[in-house]
Amino acid sequence: MVEVSASLLAADYARLGEEIQRAEGSGVDSFHVDVMDGHYVSNFAFTPQHLKALRPYTRLPFHVHLELAHPERFIEMFCSAGAELIIMQRDTLHNPEQIFDQIHSHGAQVGLCLNPGDTLRSAQKYLTDLDLLLFLGVNPGFGGQVMYPGTLEKIIQARKIISQHGLKVALAVDGGVNIGNAPTLIQGGVDCLVMGTALFGIQCMESIVANIKASAEPPFPNESMA
Ligand code: DX5
Ligand code: ZN
Repeated sequence: MVEVSASLLAADYARLGEEIQRAEGSGVDSFHVDVMDGHYVSNFAFTPQHLKALRPYTRLPFHVHLELAHPERFIEMFCSAGAELIIMQRDTLHNPEQIFDQIHSHGAQVGLCLNPGDTLRSAQKYLTDLDLLLFLGVNPGFGGQVMYPGTLEKIIQARKIISQHGLKVALAVDGGVNIGNAPTLIQGGVDCLVMGTALFGIQCMESIVANIKASAEPPFPNESMA
């Protein structure tokens, strides 16, 4: 079963509460909240204040994606604002184990994000500590970009390593995900698809989510019951 996480970066900012309810009603599994402060990337996005204000609009989990330097300074703020999962950029971590413990001590889950230029090897050492490994399919900072083709190969490699070692870490992909490439990414072994533009930009969000979930089902369900 694949999950769809709705990236609020592409939502209508004047109606965020309604957008959350529209996405929840369409069958998404969580919300992806990008945090940018204009330094690590040349853009701005959500704050703990947004998270706190939006928390009453849904019971679905908030996955906070920290696209900024010194993430350790902001864990407490986002956890107390209602984050269930904190995802950090691999190249912003100086003492990864310490920050993973910090997040777990708040009862939240830990995610690590690899940029298109980061190797899978740079995360391998931490796979046993992580709840989620996120592959960024685009350079961080903006929605609506096209996914780098190398993303799929990294996902396939990661899935292989996870199976070989019996690990529990879930795999997600973020940036440039759409109805066209979703089936291939799912086949490659991804557990969660983060979608912004290709979800909020569409009127019939419900059919997008249903279509993606159906593409994760085995083609001949009756065979497994034989
Ligand atoms: C990019 C963000 C993504 C972004 C994805 O820095 O991390 O979460 O919202 O947007 P789309 O789905 O439009 O590529
Ligand atoms: Zn993101």
